Amino acid sequence: MDTHYSKLDLLLMEFQNSILTPRAVKRASPAEHIPEGSLSAEDKKLCASLMRVNHTGEICAQALYLGQAFVAKNEQTRAHLFNAADEEADHLAWCAKRLDELSAHPSILNLFFFSTSVLTGMLAGLASDKISLGFIAETEQQVAEHLSDHLQRLPSDDKKSHAIISQMHMDEIKHQNDALAAGGETLPEYIQILMRLSAIVMTKTTYYV
Ligand SMILES: [Fe+2]
Ligand SMILES: [Fe+2]
Repeated sequence: MDTHYSKLDLLLMEFQNSILTPRAVKRASPAEHIPEGSLSAEDKKLCASLMRVNHTGEICAQALYLGQAFVAKNEQTRAHLFNAADEEADHLAWCAKRLDELSAHPSILNLFFFSTSVLTGMLAGLASDKISLGFIAETEQQVAEHLSDHLQRLPSDDKKSHAIISQMHMDEIKHQNDALAAGGETLPEYIQILMRLSAIVMTKTTYYV
């Protein structure tokens, strides 16, 4: 017998999958076969801080998509959003594993950022499906810029984190292009600035906690 889930059921299941017990990956981590580098304590701390930021970023990405999917006006957009959230789940699992390897903890602020991102996604989704897709494109572009910055800042001996972030960077650019191809509109500049400001709050706090 088919099981029919309500949108709220799907949202709660995704919360379970993203924060409580991340699901099995569809793609193995790009770092899987790369040996651990010899990192100084200071380098290890830097890598852990950057990967913690990326881990929370992936939680936010899933939460945004879910908030948007929750209020999407047509099924095609909803399917696009669930598919995008699903692809981000691999990124989330890769970052979680890397944090573990670096003996570091995920951010204690994850639940807060998950909740605010779901609400933000719902606001974007309520505007229109084209704005919602434009919101994805802008989010992915900002995430890709941010990952480029991390690639510069990571110690060169941390080849495992490099491999993960490089793959994520390629995927985020693809997500951006997919959202534009699906009809995403360019967002007003003040929205782009607000998004950058909220990203600063997230990255500056989760770097430490
Ligand atoms: Fe991602
Ligand atoms: Fe993405």
